[in-house]
Amino acid sequence: MLDIKKGVSLLPYNTLKMNVKAEMFVEISSIEDLKNLSSQTGFPERKKLILSAGSNVLFSGDFDGLIMHNGIFGISVVSEESDHVILKVNGGESWPNLVEYTVEQGWGGLENLTLIPGKVGAAPIQNIGAYGVEVKDVIVSVEAFDFTTGQQVVFSNDQCQFGYRSSIFKTTAAGRYFITAVVFRLSKFPILNLSYGPLKQAFEGKSSVSIQDVSAEVARIRQSKLPDPEMIPNVGSFFKNPMVDQTLADKIAMDFPGLPVYPQNESHVKLAAGWLIEQCGWKGYRMGEVGVHEKQALVLVNYGHGTGAEILNLASKIQDNVFEKFGVILEPEVNIY
Ligand code: EPU
Repeated sequence: MLDIKKGVSLLPYNTLKMNVKAEMFVEISSIEDLKNLSSQTGFPERKKLILSAGSNVLFSGDFDGLIMHNGIFGISVVSEESDHVILKVNGGESWPNLVEYTVEQGWGGLENLTLIPGKVGAAPIQNIGAYGVEVKDVIVSVEAFDFTTGQQVVFSNDQCQFGYRSSIFKTTAAGRYFITAVVFRLSKFPILNLSYGPLKQAFEGKSSVSIQDVSAEVARIRQSKLPDPEMIPNVGSFFKNPMVDQTLADKIAMDFPGLPVYPQNESHVKLAAGWLIEQCGWKGYRMGEVGVHEKQALVLVNYGHGTGAEILNLASKIQDNVFEKFGVILEPEVNIY
């Protein structure tokens, strides 16, 4: 039964803890709910937003439309072979709980993505990633409800057009689909990914490393750098790591030999936005109720009563400063509404 509520506070639904309201709010518990909702008169024209855990959104003010909250739960094993398991997970399930569950089962693939806040349905949208792994590496397919046709569709991994913090659901098909489930292929004989420097160092010289060990180490690294949104409201990385021409990177490195550079292809490299921001002196900077995290300059935080306008003001000052100093454009990673 659909229950469309009016004037709902979004405070419990966004990890940056913006104190804003939604004009309308509905909990989606099934595909049936989506069919009923989308066949209502006025639905296609209405401004709307699918919200999961709200761990990658910035509300710059009240939302004058309909929020559809993903509450479709359930996990099932689709098939199990001697070396892998195919797992279907509905979109409303918690991402960190899913990782914990798969690690406990000894199914490898998600361990590097331990403790990323959010829900499963949002994971493919921005192709969440951390410590050398992206969710695209283990996704078989994505199931979604198409608001345009009123039908369920299945996207293969290729059809999702995954990129760095990007997919078709964030670009050409933004807003068209509600992700109802994600299908993963997890390995029973895990192939560990220890390519991320600090992770590699932690296990240097150790002969038998399990996925449980990797998950525990990732949790330790995260907790040492990234603020827990429950304690200090935040949305993880606020900006993407910028992709720049090799020539620009070389020019910057002449003045700043410590510049971290991640080669992407023959002519482009990725730079560490957190490093660029720290070099501009913003790390730990506080401006009223908002600020830059003291241990990770890529994370903007709300000290309690910050507003969207204050966060955006701080973000734009940082962008201007990084551009002036390095000639690099920082793009937000967070979705702004
Ligand atoms: N760095 C600094 N100062 C800072 C932050 C970083 O000098 O304040 C330097 C580090 O020393 C390192 C480099 O920048 O040399 C990269 O830092 P780190 O390994 O901490 O990762 P990141 O590039 O800042 C990315 C993801 C994170 C993910 C980590 C680990 C993006 C936008 N962010 O951050 O993802 O957890 O790598 O893999 O790609 C998120 O998306 O919300 C997120 C937290």
